[in-house]
Amino acid sequence: MRKLLIGTMLSTALTAYAAPTFAEEVEVLHWWTSGGEAAALDVLKKNLEAQGVTWKDMPVAGGGGEAAMTALRARVTAGNPPTAVQALGFDITDWAKQGVVGDLGEVAAKENWDAVVPAALQAFSKYDGKWIAAPVNVHSTNWVWINKKALDAAGGKAPETWDELIVVLDAMKANGISPIGHGGQAWQDATIFDAVVLSQGTDFYKASMIDLDPAALSGEQMVAVFDKMGKLKEYVDADFSGRDWNLASAMVIEGKAGMQFMGDWAKGEFLKAGQKPGTDFVCIRFPGTQGSVTFNSDQFMMFQVGDANKGAQLKMASAIEDPAFQSAFNVVKGSAPARTDVPNDAFDDCGKKAMADLAEADKNGKLFGSMAHGHANPAAVKNAMYDVITRHFNGELDSAAAAAALAEAVAAAKG
Ligand code: GAL
Repeated sequence: MRKLLIGTMLSTALTAYAAPTFAEEVEVLHWWTSGGEAAALDVLKKNLEAQGVTWKDMPVAGGGGEAAMTALRARVTAGNPPTAVQALGFDITDWAKQGVVGDLGEVAAKENWDAVVPAALQAFSKYDGKWIAAPVNVHSTNWVWINKKALDAAGGKAPETWDELIVVLDAMKANGISPIGHGGQAWQDATIFDAVVLSQGTDFYKASMIDLDPAALSGEQMVAVFDKMGKLKEYVDADFSGRDWNLASAMVIEGKAGMQFMGDWAKGEFLKAGQKPGTDFVCIRFPGTQGSVTFNSDQFMMFQVGDANKGAQLKMASAIEDPAFQSAFNVVKGSAPARTDVPNDAFDDCGKKAMADLAEADKNGKLFGSMAHGHANPAAVKNAMYDVITRHFNGELDSAAAAAALAEAVAAAKG
């Protein structure tokens, strides 16, 4: 009996001793909970599991990541941040300023990330010259996802201008479907707004969304943007309020709605439903924004972790920047790779277009950070804009009042 007991104690002790060498773990906070998003995340999970790294999932549902950022604040305040956190643009910089982020310098130098990640992304992946986040992808927000059958029934020509868009929307309405699949959440309204602002020209996007020029924010062109938002609202169904973005995608997939204005994560939903670009759905740039791109890049921002988890954290960062992973993940996610040296062979036509559009826009100075997705301004300014855009979309402000309110809200948020 005694022997048995000692034997059990010994093997328990051995297991406890041996555990840390193979129980490497990453705890990952993210908001990738829709079908397409989860499928993409699975590519990363499996990659790490194959390397012996356990994945502790901390999903916080809510497109655009607002709820995830609230959950993150609670964890950091409690002194217990996760290993890695999905984050966007200025949010990464804001956390870096707090002095709580990790350091990926070792792996970034060894793998020469400096040479393969475009400057527009590095602006957020680095702080004070140090790599603090591993970029997974580049999404762009000025896309339209159209149900092919619904388009054919509406004349068959994908709209290239605002006027053509309205003609197609009218035809879809006449055909008895909801022309626009949309979810009334502030970030979704802002995603459409991004595209409409960009369709007024790149100079205007830069002046209003990036430079926050008060004259651009409150002027006639902004009033015209709000007028267009109001016009689009006429094509949204009555139950839109609070609807999640992926349910709006599902409406288009099922043919209940004609099209959705959404970033290319929407493509992940079409693919997950077994649909094919060109056959079942069509991807175009928002009319009037051809050649220009508003982008956002999902990055895994790393937090300071103890020595026991540092190895796993670096393995995760290295796995993310692996070119083969970048291809496999982004093919499923709908985005373009974050590295410039990933071949486009595995991507479908929309993916190839995404990659080509990004490169072209970057070359021509027509690539801008997306306001709606945290790449144009810090959260305080973004949220100030969200508020006005949503109030207008819900009919609480007319276009002139909205443009004036936008300039005021931004001025107040800038402090
Ligand atoms: C974006 C994010 C995407 C996407 C979307 C909806 O902000 O960059 O990866 O999944 O939210 O959740």
